[in-house]
Amino acid sequence: MIQSRRLRAALSLTVLGLVAAVLLSGVDRLTREPIALAEQRRALATLTELVPAARFDNDPVFDRIEQRISGFDQPAVIHRARMHGEPVALIFDVTTPRGYSGDIRLLVALNPAGTVIGARVLSHRETPGLGDKIEVRRSDWIHQFRGRSLNDPQPQRWTSSRRGGDFDTLTAATVTTDAVIDAVRRVLMEASAEDHDLWRQPEE
Ligand SMILES: Cc1cc2nc3c(=O)[nH]c(=O)nc-3n(C[C@H](O)[C@H](O)[C@H](O)COP(=O)(O)O)c2cc1C
Repeated sequence: MIQSRRLRAALSLTVLGLVAAVLLSGVDRLTREPIALAEQRRALATLTELVPAARFDNDPVFDRIEQRISGFDQPAVIHRARMHGEPVALIFDVTTPRGYSGDIRLLVALNPAGTVIGARVLSHRETPGLGDKIEVRRSDWIHQFRGRSLNDPQPQRWTSSRRGGDFDTLTAATVTTDAVIDAVRRVLMEASAEDHDLWRQPEE
């Protein structure tokens, strides 16, 4: 008698567990897309700091391609801003694993000629007071990429001042500094590669 009651309780718990698991996975599936989209929208709000909304008439959230770029573990998402169908800016959403504390995600906007319009860090885990000066609200450091291109400075100077390059080194945050400089340089190299068209229409 007691045993069959225990069995029934165990069965009920199992069924309950299964129902909960199915419900949770359903909720997860339902929310994953909207969360990803909300994240993209947030990133795009930062994008319009770099490329003012009045400069394009398409929706760069959806006008995008994914591209593997050497040096990044995750594929880059490349948003395209267009006006009357004409290229205005490529906005690379990339994550470098080279931070002092791991991943640093940033947006790098380029004009069609391959010049940096601007860059912004979206997320990181660098140390407050040291590496976090890559954030625009903490210092002006990130502005130094504006107007730069693959040949400005010359390739050997596309590194931190600590390594003889043209870019300021954040005090006691050389690793963070180098990670971001390297990421921007990789984006520029990708944009200048001639074996693919980053403006192509997304695959149907
Ligand atoms: C508590 C602590 C936090 C640190 N945070 C960072 C950081 O956010 N970014 C960074 O590049 N280095 C960080 N460092 C590392 C040192 O500042 C490191 O010496 C420096 O980045 C390396 O520079 P160097 O190669 O020019 O000596 C941290 C070190 C300590 C002890």
